[in-house]
Amino acid sequence: MREKILNIKNEALAQIMAVESERELAQIKQEYLGRKGKINELFKEMVKLAGEEKKEAGRLVNEAKQAIEQALMSVGKNFNQNEDEWFDVTLPGKLPRIGNLHPQTKVLEEIIDIFRYLGYKIADGPEVETDYYNFEALNFPKDHPARDTQQTLVLDNSGTKSVLGELLLRTQTSAMQGRVMEKMKPPFRVLVPGKCFRRDEVDASHGFEFWQVEGFVVDNNIRMTDLFGTIEFVLKSLFGEKAKIRFATTNFPFVEPGVDTYLQCTVCGGKGCAFCKKTGWSEIMPAGMIHPNLLKFAGIDSRVWGGFAFAIGLSRVVTLRYKIDDLRVLTTPNVKILRQF
Ligand code: DAH
Repeated sequence: MREKILNIKNEALAQIMAVESERELAQIKQEYLGRKGKINELFKEMVKLAGEEKKEAGRLVNEAKQAIEQALMSVGKNFNQNEDEWFDVTLPGKLPRIGNLHPQTKVLEEIIDIFRYLGYKIADGPEVETDYYNFEALNFPKDHPARDTQQTLVLDNSGTKSVLGELLLRTQTSAMQGRVMEKMKPPFRVLVPGKCFRRDEVDASHGFEFWQVEGFVVDNNIRMTDLFGTIEFVLKSLFGEKAKIRFATTNFPFVEPGVDTYLQCTVCGGKGCAFCKKTGWSEIMPAGMIHPNLLKFAGIDSRVWGGFAFAIGLSRVVTLRYKIDDLRVLTTPNVKILRQF
């Protein structure tokens, strides 16, 4: 019996020393000290003995039990300690996911900051506009051919008292020129960011809905060089001092003369690429000197006051800035894409 007890004790202690996990330790505890464990078996066997032999066996089994308990405890403690050490308090925690601004919003905020610095007030106007402000007040009479360049979405107002074609989705933020000129007394500088709509086929470089930032100034003694200086300042603020700019004449009914502004392609540096359709230049800011008719329509004396106007195609700035070759990226609600900006 004595030998059996010592064997079981040694076997248990050896197993405990070699243990590698807390789970293993728990198994050993169960095997030796559990209700049907080996120690209890020894106690049962011991009861059958008699006299001195029984006494000695009792002492030995108790000793073995204590030794096993102690060993289990000290090895168990090691495991706890190791676990504490393993816990790496320097690991950064999991950050909660917060949203991020749309690239178009970021660029728009930048543009607004630049114009605020130049003393412009920011104005907002209706997306559902009248034919008058969208066209007539901008010197596009009803049958003016330039209307054809802006495929217009007209609102179906059948069943109402308004004349069909009177209400439309504005095709240009220039529509705010008349509204502002009627209300504000010159001098003023105003910036109007906003959504415009045209009946265009959607492809990589067109959308039926797009953002424009219209700006205009009415003051005394405004010259074309004021316009050029403003454009240069704005584009260099947006694209860096090295930005190269080129002007060309163009025609819009509400400016005279009209100017097209080209920015040397920031993607290829003017060599020609897919962004600039191999021309090396991107059309970015149409502009011009305000036609005196606009001032007259709004009741401003065009002999005293003059001004300039311009528009920035917001998505053009965004695509050049982030080198995006498909406008649809900006209108796809794909968070994985938007998180990259
Ligand atoms: N409204 C014009 C368009 O959407 C852009 C434009 C051209 C605005 C010349 C201007 C300007 O203010 O002076 O096509």
